[in-house]
Parts: sequence; structure tokens; C-alpha cells
Amino acid sequence: MNTLEAIAARRSIRKFKDALIEEEKLRAILLAAAQAPSGKNRQPWRLIVVKGEKRADMIRIMKEGIAAAKSRGEDTGSSDWTAKVMERAPVTVFFFNPQGLRPWQAHTTGQMFDDVVDIQSIGACIQNLLLAAQDLGIGSLWMCDVFYAYEELCAWLGEKGEMIAAVALGYPAETPPARPRKPLSEIVREM
Ligand SMILES: Cc1cc2nc3c(=O)[nH]c(=O)nc-3n(C[C@H](O)[C@H](O)[C@H](O)COP(=O)(O)O)c2cc1C
Repeated sequence: MNTLEAIAARRSIRKFKDALIEEEKLRAILLAAAQAPSGKNRQPWRLIVVKGEKRADMIRIMKEGIAAAKSRGEDTGSSDWTAKVMERAPVTVFFFNPQGLRPWQAHTTGQMFDDVVDIQSIGACIQNLLLAAQDLGIGSLWMCDVFYAYEELCAWLGEKGEMIAAVALGYPAETPPARPRKPLSEIVREM
């Protein structure tokens, strides 16, 4: 599969088969993520892989975090649904910026600049991971609903930096149609 084919074929996958991901495939996917470009080549990412028996703890923590947010009267968006996707996925990869501050903490202008650059770099890292997974027949879901259990997941994962996102991985058990995209005429302007 070439790159353009992988880009065109990728879908967000929310149903996974029970099959595990082979270790060599997972390593190839993680190596592809590590090849992403980054501002000043800072490689401002740390990837935490959750699989096997740890998955049950992760789901429990995610659900506890969502329940705590609900008890504070906060909107929890589609997080219940996303937690169900995580439950079905054999692997979840969390992406952290070890130098990043919590999104709601006060940032100096310098920190804000670094953070914006680092978040773009981590976005490239995540997209590399999704496309490598696609190439190897593995489905993926990029998830920011983990934010609804932000502190709980950070504490459980033992990470102090900024949590950026998580990605669920597994062999797909669905073939969703392509979601609509805005036409180029709407998003591109030539000078
Ligand atoms: C930054 C980001 C965060 C996302 N968070 C979630 C999420 O928490 N739960 C979910 O089900 N989908 C999530 N998605 C998937 C989007 O809903 C999906 O990419 C979009 O609807 C387009 O569909 P496609 O990926 O199949 O092309 C996220 C995607 C991105 C890029």
C-alpha cells in the first residue's frame, strides 16, 4: 500500500476483533511514529502502550474519571462511547509531551510557543502511527475523549507532562464508509 492509498483507505475504527496485534507489527507501528518530523527535532513525545491485563485497569480509571466529571456537573461529551471503544481495542497508546504543562495551567508566552510547536509535532507522530497501522491492516481510533478522565489517567499512567491524546489499535471488525470532507474550494485559497 502506498502512502496515498493508506491516506484514502484509513477510517476511524470503533469495533475491533478479539485478535491481538503481533509484537513485530506493533513495534513497526511505533517505529513509524518515532520517524515523525518535530520542531527543532525535539521529538517531544512519550508513548505509553497499554495492553493485556492492564487494559481492565485503564478502563476502570477512564470510567471513574468520567463519573467524577459527571458528579461535578461537567459535560462529558461522547466519552462513554469512546470508553466502550477502548474496552474493545487490544492496544491503546497514550501520547504525552513530557515538557508540556496541563492545558488549563497558565503558560508564559515562551511556554505557549513551545507548546504549540510540540503539539503539532505530536500530531505528526500520531498521524504516522495511524498510517503505519493502516498499511499493516490494523485499525485505529484517535481519541481526545481521554481528556474527560485527564488527571485520573495521568496519575494511573504515572506521567507528569501534558497528555495530548490516545489511540486505540486493533484488527478492524467494521468497514465504515468515508466521512465527508470539505471541498478544496472551501478550505484552500490561492493568492
Ligand atoms: C484530535 C482528534 C480527536 C478525536 N477524538 C475522538 C474521540 O475521543 N472519540 C471518537 O470516537 N473519535 C475521535 N476522533 C475521530 C474523529 O471523530 C474522526 O477522525 C472524524 O469523524 C473523521 O472520520 P475518519 O477518521 O473516519 O475519517 C478524533 C479525531 C481527532 C483527529
